[in-house]
Amino acid sequence: MLLAIETSCDETSAAVVRGGREVLSNIVSSQIETHRRFGGVVPEIASRKHVESITLIVQEALTEAGVSRRDIDAVAVTQGPGLIGALLVGVVAAKSLALALDVPLIGTHHIAGHIYANRLIGDIVYPALALVVSGGHTELVLLPEEGVFRIVGRTRDDAVGEAYDKVARALSFPYPGGPHVDKLAQQSEEEIVLPRAWLEEGSYDFSFSGLKSAVLAEINRSKMKGLDPDFAALARGFQNSVVDVVTTKAMKAAAEFGARQLLLCGGVAANRGIRERLAARCEEAGLPMLVPPMSLCSDNAAMIGAAAELKWRRGQFSSLDLAAAAQVSLEEWSV
Ligand code: KG4
Ligand code: ZN
Repeated sequence: MLLAIETSCDETSAAVVRGGREVLSNIVSSQIETHRRFGGVVPEIASRKHVESITLIVQEALTEAGVSRRDIDAVAVTQGPGLIGALLVGVVAAKSLALALDVPLIGTHHIAGHIYANRLIGDIVYPALALVVSGGHTELVLLPEEGVFRIVGRTRDDAVGEAYDKVARALSFPYPGGPHVDKLAQQSEEEIVLPRAWLEEGSYDFSFSGLKSAVLAEINRSKMKGLDPDFAALARGFQNSVVDVVTTKAMKAAAEFGARQLLLCGGVAANRGIRERLAARCEEAGLPMLVPPMSLCSDNAAMIGAAAELKWRRGQFSSLDLAAAAQVSLEEWSV
């Protein structure tokens, strides 16, 4: 049984996970309300909030799971990537617990966690292709076999969620605005068609900053003409461009690398446009798709427990001098 801790951004979370699949508890304390008035996550405030709540959240996870500290076989923690001060809080807490309970420590990659959230809901079939879309990440990751990660594409600038949040701000929505843009896009009958950033032929990388600038340019153009910008038509144009590019690249990569399953994960997996289009395209292609429920798509510790179990089963533990790291290689984290 693993106790898992996640503090990479603005969620303080602890979970108890059995066998890498069974979630006995998954407590998530979100700081969104605290950061909203600043229009984004303030790293120093995030760290302080983690310090305030980590002990309580860990206790709550144990209580809700109905287990005592002595039942814990190992402590897993997000080592990175993420905000360094925020990560440090979780890493220090995990080290203290591992030392006090005399159990192994497992430093875990945050993106491996997002991907393995899928194992909490079903069986992963390899080779699998994961489309990771969140506020901080946009990656296409090939898993040729269990626990082995190969990045085949990544964003060169903004992450999808980040682009959504920036566009949302331009459309006057509060942070985090992704869900508002998604909703508005679905309400609109009209669409202002925006460019698609396909990049070079054959590239699986992404770029969203040009698209975000195109939205801002449209707003300015309308204002200069003394017109009210059609926010709904812009939201629809933006969403269609994002959905088109991410789903097309994911399907192409899945075909090229012979994936037998597509895994969608990360906070932006809540996006209706992406979910629906990807599900439709997977069905056309006869490719099974897994997507976790929302509670396991946004940052949470259960997903960290699911990924850490890969290392637990193989006896691959971290030493007590494990260092939190803002950047860590996913490929090197492979088992
Ligand atoms: O994975 P997550 O909880 O945190 C990170 O690890 O980044 O993702 C949060 C991001 C935010 O940028 C939020 O605006 C975006 O996911 N998001 C959405 C939707 N729901 C959440 N973006 C577009 N459409 C949605 N429905
Ligand atoms: Zn995340």
